[in-house]
Amino acid sequence: MHYRLLSALVASAAVTAVEAVEAAAAAAATYDYIVVGSGPGGGPLAANLARAGYSTLLIEAGGDEGDNPTYRDIQNFNEAANDEASRWDFWVKHSDDPERELKFGHTTYDTGDGTFYIGTKPPAGAKHLGIQYPRAAVLGGCAMHNGAVCSLPQDDDWNLIVKATGDTSWEASKMREYLKRIEKNDYLPAGNAAHGYTGWLATSVGDASFAKNVSLPGTKILRKLAELTGQDPDAVGTLVNSDILGDYKNRDEISSFYNMVSHADSQGKRSSPNNYIRATLADPAKYPLTVKLHTLVTKVLFTNSTGGMANAPPRAIGVEVMEGASVYKADPKHIAGTKGPVSQILAKREVIISGGAFNSPQILKLSGIGPREELEKFKIPVVKDLPGVGERLADNYEGSILALGAVPVDSGLITLIFRTPSAPTKNRNIFTWCGAFSFEGFWPGFPAYYGPNQWTCAMVHIGPKSQRGTVKLTSADPQDVPDINFNFFKDNGATDLHELVEAANLLRESWKSAGAPATPFQELHPCPGELGKSANCTDAAQAEFFKLQAYSHHASSTCAIGGDDDKLAVLDSKFRVRGVSGLRVVDASAFPVVPGAFPVLPTMMLSAKATEDIIADAKKSS
Ligand SMILES: Cc1cc2nc3c(=O)[nH]c(=O)nc-3n(C[C@H](O)[C@H](O)[C@H](O)COP(=O)(O)OP(=O)(O)OC[C@H]3O[C@@H](n4cnc5c(N)ncnc54)[C@H](O)[C@@H]3O)c2cc1C
Ligand SMILES: *[C@@H]1O[C@H](CO)[C@@H](O)[C@H](O)[C@H]1NC(C)=O
Ligand SMILES: *[C@@H]1O[C@H](CO)[C@@H](O)[C@H](O)[C@H]1NC(C)=O
Ligand SMILES: *[C@@H]1O[C@H](CO)[C@@H](O)[C@H](O)[C@H]1NC(C)=O
Repeated sequence: MHYRLLSALVASAAVTAVEAVEAAAAAAATYDYIVVGSGPGGGPLAANLARAGYSTLLIEAGGDEGDNPTYRDIQNFNEAANDEASRWDFWVKHSDDPERELKFGHTTYDTGDGTFYIGTKPPAGAKHLGIQYPRAAVLGGCAMHNGAVCSLPQDDDWNLIVKATGDTSWEASKMREYLKRIEKNDYLPAGNAAHGYTGWLATSVGDASFAKNVSLPGTKILRKLAELTGQDPDAVGTLVNSDILGDYKNRDEISSFYNMVSHADSQGKRSSPNNYIRATLADPAKYPLTVKLHTLVTKVLFTNSTGGMANAPPRAIGVEVMEGASVYKADPKHIAGTKGPVSQILAKREVIISGGAFNSPQILKLSGIGPREELEKFKIPVVKDLPGVGERLADNYEGSILALGAVPVDSGLITLIFRTPSAPTKNRNIFTWCGAFSFEGFWPGFPAYYGPNQWTCAMVHIGPKSQRGTVKLTSADPQDVPDINFNFFKDNGATDLHELVEAANLLRESWKSAGAPATPFQELHPCPGELGKSANCTDAAQAEFFKLQAYSHHASSTCAIGGDDDKLAVLDSKFRVRGVSGLRVVDASAFPVVPGAFPVLPTMMLSAKATEDIIADAKKSS
């Protein structure tokens, strides 16, 4: 499979973009707060701090694509994630076994002639890049190119922060208040106590009326799935409208269909931090928010003394930046050797890092905060030896079963969260969505189209037992991309793989009920051949398939919150970087574990909580 690299074509466009950098933030200007990164963690936080009256500078490496239909219209999410206007390609590893890496079906090579080769039989001389892990460098972060799927973490995911740190403000019941604060519900009648209606984040659902038509193959599959997951097959027509963000007793233990919720309005327009930031800038109240686009933060600046006190911890006083579009080498538009002007910007109160799970640990390390040995290797002066920075990288494992119906499989989208028999707790462990699409992970040009008969159940595994991934520097150069190894399945991998296999077996079983003319299905993977007839479709063979072909896009936990006794804790329960002052990390890297099945909504909730914590501290100190 070949896909064109567009870099050469867009090089001239990139130059125009540099000239369009907002002139607002003059070098050495001083703000109360500097927030680095405008994604779900940093974007809403910066807007909120400005709305609370604090002068705030939001620095974003990318530009603003808010009016671009590729980003604005939610149906274009696959194009958005492939779009060179915002794309940062991280070429990651899933393990430290080079042979295993080469077996990933969509591993990617640079052919040297301006194209990628994707697959396991590269042409001679092609340079192996790795597994593409897309990120959006754009105002609004990955919430601008993502699938916009919203779900809540498991209550345990919040409550374990209480257990680790003793901070009861993280209790799951309290975290719902942040959902209510940010949400502008566009799918339920006003007054539902579980929801908010006046926030900035629009939430909406799709049309699930197909499930009322019992003669559709999709509905027949639904009915079988109901039977297999302890739900009433005769009630699927209403069960598919269950509220995935609802407040149910023991919700995490209930296998249930849902109507998928998106962070978009009911007209299909994406709702993200981009909208909120722009609304904040445009507000007649003239909130003191400055947004500096196309600017890469290269490090945090520190001073040794706090108000003249001896032995005070180093204090963050600002950031160093490099201006220019595409100065980071993950940007496919980057032109080798290009640099931008470097300057310093100061913060009176705090610096908040929200660069996402790959860039926040990189920024901390470049600033001298991280494992001493790694920093010394690159001659970075150690400000604070913090061994957990860039560790604990984890992600939801994802896999799919993909087949071709005998004819197109008429169905709407099926969304189901369920528990497989070997799940370690009473909690559900698989989030699946099934329909007439294909989704097999990420590579340049994804997804593949298998024709109108394609049928998939995409699975997101909840609660990975391994958190051994790492983000490590490759140099002290902030334009360089770090080395990212997820170390998939390193701890208790067989257990997680077994859960995925159990899920695949259950989902496959339901497909048999689709009925003629949709059946028989021809399965493409994990068990190639006529569905249910493959002699090779053993649990072991499927586990091996998922081990080699699992993918992911919900990275978290590289600057994790943890207790005082936790050597790998990077943050305390108020997002403060341990061992220094005036510095916090607020984004998906702060989660101690992967939050549920989809991180974007949890990250926005966490950001709303951080707003409150930061403003509370500001009030104490002034
Ligand atoms: C293709 C794709 C689809 C996804 N689909 C879903 C989904 O459907 N549902 C879901 O819940 N999650 C989804 N996710 C994941 C979700 O979008 C992310 O978990 C979430 O956006 C993380 O937010 P964040 O604030 O931690 O980081 P990010 O969203 O990555 O934002 C970080 C921001 O910081 C900027 N930045 C980084 N470094 C610097 C620097 N040095 N200087 C200046 N700026 C910098 C970046 O440009 C970026 O804008 C998806 C992710 C991808 C990649
Ligand atoms: C149900 O689906 C069948 C098959 O597509 C179609 O012929 C029929 O009109 C549908 N019924 C309703 C009530 O929409
Ligand atoms: C902080 O103190 C250390 C050790 O005394 C010194 O090497 C470093 O340069 C100082 N840093 C700043 C920013 O003053
Ligand atoms: C089983 O796998 C073997 C080896 O990959 C292959 O040759 C054979 O055709 C497969 N059989 C079926 C029924 O899929």
